[in-house]
This record gives sequence, structure tokens and C-alpha cells, in this order.
Amino acid sequence: MKTNVPIISVKYLRTAALRSAIDPVPSIRRAAARNCAAAAPGTGEYFNSGTGFPRIYVHRFTPNCCRIGEAFVLFASALSTAFTALLDVEHPVVSAPMADAAGGYLAAAVSAAGGLGLIGGAYGDEGWLRREFDRAGDARVGCGFITWALAEQPALLDVALSYRPAAVMLSFGDPAPFAAAVRDSGARLICQVQDLGQADRALGCGADVLVAQGIEAGGHGFGCRTTMTLVPEIVDLVAARDSTVPVLAAGGIADGRGLAAALMLGASGVLCGSLFYTAAEALTTPAARETVAAATGDSTCRTGVYDVIRGYRWPAGHTMSVLRNAFTDRWHGAEADLAAAGDPVAAQYRQAVAEADYRTANVTVGQAAGLIGPSAPAGDIMAGLTAEAARLLAR
Ligand SMILES: Cc1cc2nc3c(=O)[nH]c(=O)nc-3n(C[C@H](O)[C@H](O)[C@H](O)COP(=O)(O)O)c2cc1C
Repeated sequence: MKTNVPIISVKYLRTAALRSAIDPVPSIRRAAARNCAAAAPGTGEYFNSGTGFPRIYVHRFTPNCCRIGEAFVLFASALSTAFTALLDVEHPVVSAPMADAAGGYLAAAVSAAGGLGLIGGAYGDEGWLRREFDRAGDARVGCGFITWALAEQPALLDVALSYRPAAVMLSFGDPAPFAAAVRDSGARLICQVQDLGQADRALGCGADVLVAQGIEAGGHGFGCRTTMTLVPEIVDLVAARDSTVPVLAAGGIADGRGLAAALMLGASGVLCGSLFYTAAEALTTPAARETVAAATGDSTCRTGVYDVIRGYRWPAGHTMSVLRNAFTDRWHGAEADLAAAGDPVAAQYRQAVAEADYRTANVTVGQAAGLIGPSAPAGDIMAGLTAEAARLLAR
């Protein structure tokens, strides 16, 4: 096959999925339609769109991948990276293991769209974890844990591994006690880090993938490093250690511009949380998603108030990015008073969560909030993200 773009990761796509992936490029849409119509089982036709990217390659229909009346094509992705090769996925996009938001339906939808979906193991609830893996069904997904919380319930890792996840992501704590079990199971070990010291430690533990998380990120983070500088420094650190471990960028990435920029910084992909918080399959409420759609990056703050009110004992240096509201305005900077206020305020908070009242309850997103539109299915989000990045990178 003659091609200028590296074709490392290719995937059979039904015509509907292909259509959404190539819709932004009308000439290719026409060309693909023509070729799909012309393709016959067993053929290996190749079509050069003439634009340089993407090229459509109609390839080897087999009884396993072609049903009567359906056309499948291979889509040459300009977004193929060391990460897509390692995880055997089409797109270098991972959905974050978001506590309370990333369940099995979301993870499965992201994986079905060519990325890797992660279930949020969070603070550890075995019943919840089993339910969400069951919801993911046969989809090839992974899961993530808050490492300091996993250390309090280490048996949860065995529960997760019993579902044979494609990857396990560990964040916020020392991965060493769990690294061998993850890798011995055949799952890839992904370590989310927030500074160079943590990156070095994760490499020493045998991480297969590093996620460099900047402080723009939604949810919890540590320290003060931003994505723009942290990612290339960690990429350089990996190279200096003679390692080929792929690095994913996380924090503030919610559209094709961010994905393309991350690849330019040397990352092999991205991990997005806030963006998928608003996905139709997420375990978030419609009201929370609408609140995000109306927000800007200016609407966020990093605070500890929701950890105080929920009784989570995060180690020092960690803060949580949420949308500012009446609750953060009242209690941020007055955490000791909040802790002293005790049960009545905690009860108000729990009631606000139950009623989806986001003047008090938390909407947990980062500065990417200003880049996120109305809720959409994860497959549409993935298609938009990757098509825009591919178009920008082809310029
Ligand atoms: C709602 C929400 C919950 C999160 N929960 C977790 C978590 O339980 N474990 C974890 O490792 N990271 C968690 N994160 C952080 C993500 O892993 C990721 O670093 C972050 O979302 C990336 O930044 P972005 O939100 O700008 O995409 C969470 C993020 C969000 C938005």
C-alpha cells in the first residue's frame, strides 16, 4: 500500500461509524461512499482521497467482519501513536476513571468508539465496581483506583482484575504495592502522575503508560504543575531513562485542538475527564451537564471543601477542581469552620446531591469546562475530538 501517513492502528468500522469520523471532510465522505458501495467481500481496494489525509482503504472483507448489506472499511488514522499500538486501540484517547461519573456504560461507549474507557473505582465500593463492570459487558475496558484509598481496601484490586480489564490506572499514591499484581494479570499498568518525582517512581514500578496530569484537570490533582510544561518534561524524562513508555496528557483537554497540541508536546495521547463528565452515558445528572455547558474556565476553583463535607481524608497537597457555587463561596478558605459545623451542613449537602441542586452540590470539572458544549453520546464526542485533531495535524 502506498501511503504518506503511518498506518499502525486500523480498525473495522461500520459505515455509520465511518461516516461520523469523516463527516467534516466532504470530499472524503463522497469518496468513501463510492468505495464502500464498490467494495466486495474479499477485496483489498485502496483509495487515495487526494487530500493527503485521511486515506480510505477498503480491505479484506471476511465472513467474521462482514454481514450481508453492511460495508466495513479500514480507516487510516493520523492519530496512531505508541499508545494506540500498545493498547491496540484506534484513537489515542482514554476516558478518565472518574469517581461517581465513569461507570460501565461510559467506559464501554468510549471503547466502542475506538478509545479506551476506564471505570472509576474511586474510593472503593465492591458492589458498585461489580455492577459497573457488568454494565460494560463484553467491552474491552479498564478501571482506575485512587491509590491511597485502594491501600485501605487492597482486595478490590482482585475484584477488578477478575473482570480481566485491559488496563488498571493508579493515581494519587504509591503504585508500588499494586504494580506487580496488575502486570502479572496481563492488564496494562497506567500511572497518573503530577510531577517528575512521581513519574520517575512510576517508571521504576514498571508502569506501561504514564498520564501527566496538569493542575487544570477536573477532579483531584496535586501540586501546581500545568499540562503545557509538565507533559514535555515527562516525555523528556522518559527518554532520558531510555524508556519507551507512552505518556498521555491530562488536564484541560476537551477538543481536537487540545488533542493535537498534546501530540505536538510529545504525548502519545490524552486522558480526558471533564469532557466525558457530560457524555450521555456518564453517571451524571442532566442538570450537572447543563451547568457545565453554561460554564467557562473562569467558573472553576480548586478547593478542599467537598472532601471535608464528604469526610474523605486526602493526603496534604491535593485539591479538587469544581465549578464555583454558593457552597464554595461560603466555605472555601473556612474549611476548619466547615468541619466544625458538622452534621447539619453534611445533611444539607447530601440533600442537595439527591436533588441535583448545584448551588450546594459539586459539579466536578476542570478548566476545560469552557470548551465543553451540550451533552452528547460518547461516540459523537470521540468522533468530533479525533476528526478535529486529525484535520489540524494534516494542515
Ligand atoms: C468528575 C471527575 C472525577 C474524577 N475522579 C477521579 C478518580 O476517581 N480517580 C482518578 O485517578 N482521577 C480522577 N479524576 C481526574 C482524571 O483522572 C483526569 O486527570 C482529569 O479529568 C483530566 O483533566 P480534565 O478533566 O481537564 O480532562 C476525576 C476527574 C473528574 C472530572
